[in-house]
Amino acid sequence: MAIQSVGVVGAGQMGNGIAHVFALAGYDVLLNDVSAEAMVKAVATIDRNLERQVGRGKIAADDKAAAMARIRTTERIEDIARTDLVIEAATENEAVKNRIFDSIVPHLGPDTILTSNTSSISITRLASRTDRPEKFMGFHFMNPVPVMQLVELIRGIATDEPTYRALVDVVERLGKTSASAEDFPAFIVNRVLVPMINEAVYVLYEGVGNVRSIDESLKLGANHPMGPLELADFIGLDTCLAIMNVLHDGLADTKYRPCPLLVKYVEAGWLGRKSGRGFYDYR
Ligand code: CAA
Repeated sequence: MAIQSVGVVGAGQMGNGIAHVFALAGYDVLLNDVSAEAMVKAVATIDRNLERQVGRGKIAADDKAAAMARIRTTERIEDIARTDLVIEAATENEAVKNRIFDSIVPHLGPDTILTSNTSSISITRLASRTDRPEKFMGFHFMNPVPVMQLVELIRGIATDEPTYRALVDVVERLGKTSASAEDFPAFIVNRVLVPMINEAVYVLYEGVGNVRSIDESLKLGANHPMGPLELADFIGLDTCLAIMNVLHDGLADTKYRPCPLLVKYVEAGWLGRKSGRGFYDYR
């Protein structure tokens, strides 16, 4: 079945980026969130980011207008269920994701593919609660979605080949590159990236370096586009902690122990850019 319409659940930084790239690639996009305000904000962000692409000569003004016209928002989860491909992009919390899938499943058409943009949670476990584990996949975009080339594709134990093939084709139509990862905690990118960030927080915690020296060291010494602490603020410290917890619980190895300083920042509500304060102050 050719995929034409896409339902995105969650209008946060991942959800708006996903809606952006699908609309630009010609898909009809329906964006859903429990917060009407978040949807208004998401559409404004998409508009701004498309405008940035127009300004840099990446896309034409007409492409922007066409993409914006393909995006609609809805507060009704039933509407989302009627699309060809559902992408859950809510917060990195298994209970929240399960609640979303529970509410969508009764309304789904027989052919709809269900996916999660989870950055670490077991696809097999998420799929097992739905009515269609064979049509369920991990569909992991990187932030900022309009810029990052990679999409990780994760098959659960029951995912069938046509579903996998359909998503490979979708990624190609988006102009991105897919990488296939097995269903183990945090898959490939975050299995490597987030422990590196956690290690940088330990380096700060132990006083080996300060925020600026740690970030400068990795930027200038390893050619990373962002330092690890700046990147943590960008991803969200709550997301980084959630991923470390999944690695620690799922792989039962102390090398994945979340740094106590990361835990403390999250407890303080210092979540990075989105809350105005993390390792840096954005206020
Ligand atoms: N939408 C559209 N375009 C955007 C954009 C957005 N949200 N953000 C940046 N851009 C574009 C800019 O317009 C610019 O375009 P040109 O190349 O045409 O000039 C380009 O991206 C670079 O942006 P800037 O010049 O503003 O800034 P920069 O050079 O400092 O790059 C960055 C910004 C792309 C974010 C870069 O710092 C970077 O690559 N950082 C690392 C990002 C990263 O590692 N992401 C993965 C996070 S992990 C993850 O996502 C997985 C997970 O589950 C946690």
